[in-house]
Amino acid sequence: MLSSFADDSQVLVQGASRGIGLEFVRQLLAEPSIGRVVATCREPERAAELATFAAGERRLHIVGLDVADEESIAHAAAATAGLTDRLHLVVNCAGILHDDRQSVAPEKRLADVRADALAAGFAVNAFGPLLVAKHFERLLAHRERAVFASLSARVGSIGDNRLGGWYAYRGAKAAQNMFTRTLAIEWARSHRNVICVALHPGTTDTDLSRPFQANVPPGKLFSTGRTVRQLLEVIDRLLPADTGRFLAWDGSEIPW
Ligand SMILES: NC(=O)c1ccc[n+]([C@@H]2O[C@H](COP(=O)([O-])OP(=O)(O)OC[C@H]3O[C@@H](n4cnc5c(N)ncnc54)[C@H](OP(=O)(O)O)[C@@H]3O)[C@@H](O)[C@H]2O)c1
Repeated sequence: MLSSFADDSQVLVQGASRGIGLEFVRQLLAEPSIGRVVATCREPERAAELATFAAGERRLHIVGLDVADEESIAHAAAATAGLTDRLHLVVNCAGILHDDRQSVAPEKRLADVRADALAAGFAVNAFGPLLVAKHFERLLAHRERAVFASLSARVGSIGDNRLGGWYAYRGAKAAQNMFTRTLAIEWARSHRNVICVALHPGTTDTDLSRPFQANVPPGKLFSTGRTVRQLLEVIDRLLPADTGRFLAWDGSEIPW
């Protein structure tokens, strides 16, 4: 149970149609202190599982947001501002590693690198959370504790890169980390209530990891339920001094 969130806390889960984001919505709705969950996804009409959560649940609001489209982010921020004047938690979950619709797949070697795939990966994984910060900033600018968390990935660590490959995903997550750190410095001056972090969820059984799960050692593949429980524990324990950090699912620090 969350202990750092006051009654009637208002939260936003960005990228909530599937995987880890969907599970964040489920677990947050089970928390008595959460007064409202705004769950965003790019195609609400196709987010069937998310829609089932809304039945009989007045605290859940589903809002369209394509994180690769700044205008859509601005519209979603305006829609959210019509529901609440403040947010206590924003979790950016949207991410792509492979996407059949855009013929995006992680590169094994330099020859696989394509400009359009790099652009698609950077738009969602790197620019997305930063543009969400820009448009939702006014809802985080209050005096109560707030957390702005973006799901990153250990493979975005430059210091930890021993295997190579996956140029677009690694590069975009590294850029996302730099944006998170830069934003944390700005908000430590202008919005001292906001704790801004990058979080590595651990390898989790979702569509994103599915093609690569054969290489995961037994016991190292988390269910979405376990991942979100662990991440909520990390988020709950965050202190103002933690702003600007890159943390793993167990609260340990990851090198940039
Ligand atoms: N799973 C892992 O092992 C793992 C490990 C490390 C880090 N992560 C990170 O954790 C986050 C969540 O990953 P996951 O495993 O839950 O992935 P997932 O199951 O593949 O879900 C990805 C989510 O991102 C959304 N999305 C993609 N492009 C979008 C866009 N343009 N606008 C809005 N939403 C968009 C998808 O929405 P649609 O349904 O509309 O496609 C979906 O909800 C990602 O940032 C990922 O990089 C995951």
